[in-house]
Amino acid sequence: MVRARILGTGRYAPAKVVSNEDLSKTIDTTDEWIYSRTGIKTRHIAAEGEQTSDLAVAAAKNALEMAGKKASDLDLIVVGTISSDLHMPSCAVYVQAKLGAKCPAFDVSAACAGSIYGLSIAEQFVSTGAKKCVLVIGVELLSRLVDWKDRNTCVLFGDAAGAMIVGPSNDDRRGILSTHLHADGNVADILTIPAGGSVHPITAQAVEQGLQYIKMNGREVYKVAVRSLEEVVREALAANKMSVSDVTHVVPHQANIRIIDTVLERLEIPREKAILNIDRYGNTSSASVPITLDEGVRGGRIREGDVVAMMAIGAGMAWGSALVRW
Ligand code: ACO
Repeated sequence: MVRARILGTGRYAPAKVVSNEDLSKTIDTTDEWIYSRTGIKTRHIAAEGEQTSDLAVAAAKNALEMAGKKASDLDLIVVGTISSDLHMPSCAVYVQAKLGAKCPAFDVSAACAGSIYGLSIAEQFVSTGAKKCVLVIGVELLSRLVDWKDRNTCVLFGDAAGAMIVGPSNDDRRGILSTHLHADGNVADILTIPAGGSVHPITAQAVEQGLQYIKMNGREVYKVAVRSLEEVVREALAANKMSVSDVTHVVPHQANIRIIDTVLERLEIPREKAILNIDRYGNTSSASVPITLDEGVRGGRIREGDVVAMMAIGAGMAWGSALVRW
């Protein structure tokens, strides 16, 4: 078995920035309510005509450049998304075509855990020697899947893409130490997009009821998230015979600052070890972990030899962690 390593990272967020104050002009909310409950100040929103695959390609190009790779080097593309250009085909095939790559390409539907699921898939392909250069993307354009009249959800999300290039490590001590994936479909109903599938095909009636938009039971999501994220980070540390003090940086899914703070508190990891950007991006779902990783790497915080703990959870619920020695 070969050790897989993240060879490059990249990110992209649309140019338009929408603040809490902007939102308070169109819905009954305030900057104080949003910031105190979520940690969000602003989010990026895609321009009309800008598609999910466009965001993904911009992030992918940055990651390829950092890794010193070309699109023609890619032998697999995995895209974590629940907001693809179309329901069919996958977002990954549009990314492949726009990059000019020739490799197999598919999407993973694990909502906010999509990039950790994708990273785990890439790790399996690379460590067995089956693939040598895998592009993993987390991308969401959730601004087109939220009801802009529903203050319970529309204030939370933002659009963005993050990318990682995964290949064999030339140093066995550096790379992905382990990945850990979980799901619990028994709580699937707490976070859904009801219409557009077999249960509620898109009909005039479904649209009238707003069933094409994200519906969430925020309190239940909060409870499952806190419990699951703590467990999955502990699982990753135990698998590598490490303790929380070995972790140099935490790269958490940026769903809500209160979820992140509670998980860190339970793990007894100081907040300074977490790389945070929820104030600027909001919840970008599957994009959040690779964007945060890229900010940590390009900003010079994550350095060679550092131990990075990544964690994410989203609709499903589906969650996971990855422990990486940079
Ligand atoms: N502005 C002002 N008031 C609001 C807003 C808003 N944007 N949204 C809701 N409210 C109101 C509600 O209507 C309610 O009013 P009422 O008491 O008169 O009915 C009141 O605020 C309290 O609403 P709650 O939903 O109970 O608020 P809560 O304190 O639970 O906070 C939140 C809501 C922030 C969503 C919280 O439940 C949470 O953090 N949940 C985690 C969910 C999450 O992070 N989801 C992201 C997607 S999933 C993921 O990435 C893991």
